[in-house]
Amino acid sequence: MLIQENYSLKRLNTFHINASAKYFVEVNSIDEIKEVLLDKTFINTPKLILGGGSNLLFTKDYNGIVIKNNLKGINLISEDENYYFVKAGAGEVWHNLVLHCINNNYAGLENLSLIPGNVGASPMQNIGAYGVEIKDCFYELEAFHINDKTIRTFNNADCKFGYRESIFKHELKNQYIITSVTFKLNKKPTYNISYGAIEKELELMGIKELNIQAISKAVCTIRNSKLPNPDEIGNAGSFFKNPEINKSNFDPLKKEFPNIVGYDLENGNVKLAAGWLIEQCGWKGKTFGDVGVHKNQALVLVNYADANGSELFDLSEKIMASVKEKFGVELEREVNII
Ligand code: FAD
Ligand code: EPU
Repeated sequence: MLIQENYSLKRLNTFHINASAKYFVEVNSIDEIKEVLLDKTFINTPKLILGGGSNLLFTKDYNGIVIKNNLKGINLISEDENYYFVKAGAGEVWHNLVLHCINNNYAGLENLSLIPGNVGASPMQNIGAYGVEIKDCFYELEAFHINDKTIRTFNNADCKFGYRESIFKHELKNQYIITSVTFKLNKKPTYNISYGAIEKELELMGIKELNIQAISKAVCTIRNSKLPNPDEIGNAGSFFKNPEINKSNFDPLKKEFPNIVGYDLENGNVKLAAGWLIEQCGWKGKTFGDVGVHKNQALVLVNYADANGSELFDLSEKIMASVKEKFGVELEREVNII
């Protein structure tokens, strides 16, 4: 296990910010995690667990140890009449797990195709897309407590999943290293194609008999047409969450802005499309030096060249202030600010 000093993180975050870590190490097993955590040099050193770096923004160098989680393995651990139970190491690339499931006809993750990042981060914000969130197929995860050095299993309820939320972003923030996630996948698929343009895309593909392979392909095509590829333009997907507001606050907004995009939620609130709000404030497609707001998707902030993280953070502050001023709505960042 090699511990490196003053290590550049530029190729390890999808914004391609050239921040460095005071210390950097890659771990390939639970024993290696233990070894790093028991090393006296690092007992009081701040620790950051890194997956694919696709949901964080470094606004400065990291004055601690970055632990890149590379734990691998995808295994069918059990099955019953209705379900397959598939356990994946935290360091597996998320989309590779999705493809593995599709190839084996384990149904449930197909709508989550092509989300960047690794398996270990997927429960952190309960990743979601196209009408599905991982909580719908999540069975349990194992995580290593950084201080106690014990392993704990969390079931679905323990994780307190919500929209882009889990217990690991709140009560248990920075306390655990997720080492594996087990999914409960359907033997008899229930197809979920009502969201967005999936149905239209399947029609264009000429699909007569629905299957999970086709849904995955449709989702990939839609995502590729909408979202910038981080290999070409630095970004971390949606920079902000879609805000949820009270129906009593939505009605007057709808009167003033008849085209406002809002979806009724089961709890009686309304979820607004943050991309629409930001576009209406005039930000879409704007560039400021090396940073900007993507031309096809106003929720995505981008690094066109060599921006530093604080330039992107400052842009996000200005966007939040203008949305607040025009609509009275507070945006919340989805991206983790480091
Ligand atoms: P990282 O960015 O490395 O880490 C994210 C956070 O999790 C950090 O706080 C980190 O410390 C922590 N963490 C990572 N691994 C572990 C671990 N093993 N144990 C404990 N903590 C850990 N997200 C969606 O939900 N839906 C989308 O549709 C979507 N689309 C995207 C599109 C693009 C183009 C991009 C760039 C991002 C998109 N995202 C989306 C965001 C991102 O893909 C997800 O949040 C993903 O789960 C992040 O995984 P990661 O491995 O890159 O995490
Ligand atoms: N819209 C605009 N202008 C824009 C962007 C969007 O008016 O610039 C409007 C669209 O017209 C549409 C609505 O906003 O009516 C929703 O847009 P879209 O379907 O593109 O989805 P989104 O709400 O912008 C969310 C997630 C994505 C996820 C997609 C698909 C959040 C914060 N974002 O985006 O997740 O892939 O739905 O399910 O919930 C991510 O979390 O990083 C991410 C990319």
